[in-house]
Amino acid sequence: MSDINAAASGTFSLGDLTINRLGFGAMRITGRGIWGPPADHDGAIATLKRLPELGVNFIDTADSYGPDVSEKLIREALHPYDGLLVATKAGLTRAGPDRWAPNGMPDYLIEQAQKSLKKLGVEQIALWQLHRIDPRVPRDEQFGAVRMLLDQGIIAHAGLSQVSIEEIEAARKVFPVATVQNRYNLVDRGSEEVLDYCQQHGIGFIPWFPLAAGDLAKPGSVLDGIAKQHGAAPSQIALAWVLKRSPVMLPIPGTSKVAHLEENVAAAEIELSDEDFAALDEAGRS
Ligand SMILES: NC(=O)c1ccc[n+]([C@@H]2O[C@H](COP(=O)([O-])OP(=O)(O)OC[C@H]3O[C@@H](n4cnc5c(N)ncnc54)[C@H](OP(=O)(O)O)[C@@H]3O)[C@@H](O)[C@H]2O)c1
Repeated sequence: MSDINAAASGTFSLGDLTINRLGFGAMRITGRGIWGPPADHDGAIATLKRLPELGVNFIDTADSYGPDVSEKLIREALHPYDGLLVATKAGLTRAGPDRWAPNGMPDYLIEQAQKSLKKLGVEQIALWQLHRIDPRVPRDEQFGAVRMLLDQGIIAHAGLSQVSIEEIEAARKVFPVATVQNRYNLVDRGSEEVLDYCQQHGIGFIPWFPLAAGDLAKPGSVLDGIAKQHGAAPSQIALAWVLKRSPVMLPIPGTSKVAHLEENVAAAEIELSDEDFAALDEAGRS
């Protein structure tokens, strides 16, 4: 047993599934440019195997991470996923390292979800997210594909990624939106209103790139001072701040290294005072 545990971050319920709020992003367990196998296969497997020991029971991946590499490594390390919620996505295609292009054709989305079922080795995907709304395909056709995946029981819950409130509301007319995954961190607050909307409607908000603190991590900064008081790394304080921001916040910091994973999970134990939270809030907005 480890004393570090993601349970310290509190829980969030997706229907009948309850997860610890601090999760794991499995994009970084692939090769450079999120392409191909990881440089250190055994290190990536060890990182994944450490997740349940640390109480992390929410893992975010996508068909496009590798592609296929992340989903297959998760299966290799963690199948049959006792008590773990593995969420995946589709809607972005890959032509090479760091190259991403949307494909929201309904048949493609349905086929990719079916392939994810096989790669992960599950009968149903607990949470499946539309990675991007493809501007070249009518969005209701893309939402209709999600509705079909839910109706056919291929997926249990559905979410969206990089969306506005207007897009969430349009999707909610077609299927229940369980989660929204937008870029958000202490210094990137562009999705503040989307987050408030999610909180108001009980939708899980999954901030990606949650560790970023940018220039705020510089020596002598507000963040640096608070980190020193807690004997913590600035990235841990950035994560603790994100967790305190909202009860629907489900951060998924990603790493391929066990030591970094342990450091990130330890951030769940950090309790920021309301004063520190407000000071960081102000510094992060400016
Ligand atoms: N929906 C979307 O469009 C979208 C886009 C991007 C990402 N995501 C998801 O969000 C997750 C997180 O996003 P992200 O990977 O961009 O951002 P992140 O988790 O904030 O940062 C990951 C980076 O930080 C490093 N890192 C992690 N822990 C560290 C630590 N304790 N100390 C020092 N460095 C550390 C990692 O490298 P090391 O491997 O060296 O630790 C990696 O380079 C992804 O895994 C993915 O699941 C979604």
